Amino acid sequence: MTLLTDLARTYGTPAYVYDLQAVRSAHADLRTALPSGTELYYSVKANPHPLVIACLAGLGCRTEVASPGELDAALGAGVPPDRILLTAPGKSESAVAHALARQVTHFSADSPTDLARIAGQAERLGVPAGCLLRVNADQAVPGMGLSMTGTASQFGADASWILREPHLFRGHDMARVTGLHLYMGTNIAEQDKLLRQFTIGVELAAALRTSVGEHLTTVDLGGGFGTPFARQGDRPVFTSLAKELTSVLDGGLPGWRDGEITVAFESGRYLTGDCGHLLTTVLDTKESKGTRFTVLDTGIHHLGGMSGLRRVPPVSPDVLHATATATATATDADGVRRGTAPAPRTGAGAERTRTPGVLAGPLCTPLDTLSRNTPLPPMETGDVLAVPNVGAYGLSASLIAFLGHHLPVEIVVDAGHVVSATRLHLTRHDAGPGETGPSSLPAHHLEGAPV
Ligand SMILES: Cc1ncc(COP(=O)(O)O)c(C=O)c1O
Repeated sequence: MTLLTDLARTYGTPAYVYDLQAVRSAHADLRTALPSGTELYYSVKANPHPLVIACLAGLGCRTEVASPGELDAALGAGVPPDRILLTAPGKSESAVAHALARQVTHFSADSPTDLARIAGQAERLGVPAGCLLRVNADQAVPGMGLSMTGTASQFGADASWILREPHLFRGHDMARVTGLHLYMGTNIAEQDKLLRQFTIGVELAAALRTSVGEHLTTVDLGGGFGTPFARQGDRPVFTSLAKELTSVLDGGLPGWRDGEITVAFESGRYLTGDCGHLLTTVLDTKESKGTRFTVLDTGIHHLGGMSGLRRVPPVSPDVLHATATATATATDADGVRRGTAPAPRTGAGAERTRTPGVLAGPLCTPLDTLSRNTPLPPMETGDVLAVPNVGAYGLSASLIAFLGHHLPVEIVVDAGHVVSATRLHLTRHDAGPGETGPSSLPAHHLEGAPV
C-alpha cells in the first residue's frame, strides 16, 4: 500500500495522485448501474491523464472529447478514432478538420450551423461524418448540480425548435444525422433524479425519432452521475438504476435490446472523482488582525479554478493531514473498496481543537484561498496535507497559466505501485497567420519527462 506521505517525500508537493484501482472500481459500479448492452463514454474533460484515458478505454469505454487537445490526448492514449465522439457547442472549422483528418468522424452537432460546418469540412476532406443532434429538452430536471438543459442554453437545439422546423436538422450527404445527444446536467448524486432525467430523455428521444425524418440509430442519454468533489465521502452506488432504466428503455425505445438502437451514457466525474488526492505542504502559518492564515504550496491554479468564475457552486475542500494515509484505494481481502478519504492525523494532533482560519494558496491574489473561516486542525510549516476526491475536475479545471508556477507532479499508482510520475508544462510556439499550433494536452502529457 502506498502512503501519500511517502509519495510527497519522494516526488515533492504539490502533487496529484491518481489510483487506477479506484478508477476500475468506479467503472465496475457504474457499469452495474447501467443496463447491459448499453455503451459508456468516458468524458476526458474530467481527467485527461493518458493513463486514466487508457485505463477506461481498456475497460471498454468509448471516449467523449470536447476540443482538439482532448481529441489528441485520447488518440495519444491509444483510443481508436472510431471510438471517439467530439462534442462542444462551438466547433470551429479547424477543430472539425483536425478531427476528420485523424479519422475521428463522430460528432455531436449543436445547431444547423454546426451541422453545416461539419458537412462542409467532411466534403472538403472527402471523409464522411456521422452526427448526433444535441437536444435541449424543453423540460428542466430539478435538483441537478449544474443544469444544462430545460433552460436557455448554448448547448444543443431546443426540442421545440427541432419539432417545429425538422428540415433544418436533416443530415447532409457527407454528414448524416445518425442519432440524438441529450446530456442534461452534471453531479446528480440521487438515483431518483438520475432516473427522472433519463425518463425525460427517453420520452424526448422517442418523440424526436419519428419527427426528425432520419434513420436514427443512436440515443446518447448523457449522464451527470454525481460523486463528492474535494470533500470527504464515498461515491454513491446506484443499486437499482439498471433495473428501472431497463424498463424505461423497453417502454420508450423498443428495439434497443436487439441493437436496432444503440443507447449510450457519458461520465467523467463519477469514473475518476474518487481516484485522486491533491497533496500539498504548509509553507507558512501566521496571524493577521486576529485571523489565522495557513499558506499552502497549492491554490486555485491547481484546484477549483472554475469556481473563480462562479461556474460551480463554491466548495470548501476538506484538507486533512496526510500522515499515515494510504492512496485512494483501500481494498479489503474480498476486493471491495471500503472508502477513500484520508484519515485525520493520528496521535496527539488529532485531539487538538479545530479553530477557524484561512487556507490560502501561494498566488498574489486575495482570491487564492481554498477556504475561509473554516474550522481547521492545527497545522505547522512542513505538514503535508491531502484534499480527497479530486481525481475529476482537479487540474483539468484549474487556472494553470496564472502566475507561472510549476504545475503539480501527477503520480499514477496501481496496485500499490507508482506507474508514472510526470508534470505538465506550458510552452510558447511561433504562430503564423491562421496557424493554431500544437494542441495543448497530449504533447505535454506524453512528452512530460518523468520527474
Ligand atoms: C456533453 C458532456 N458530456 C459529459 C460531461 C461529463 O460530465 P460529468 O463529468 O459530470 O460526468 C459533460 C460535462 O459538462 C458534458 O458537457
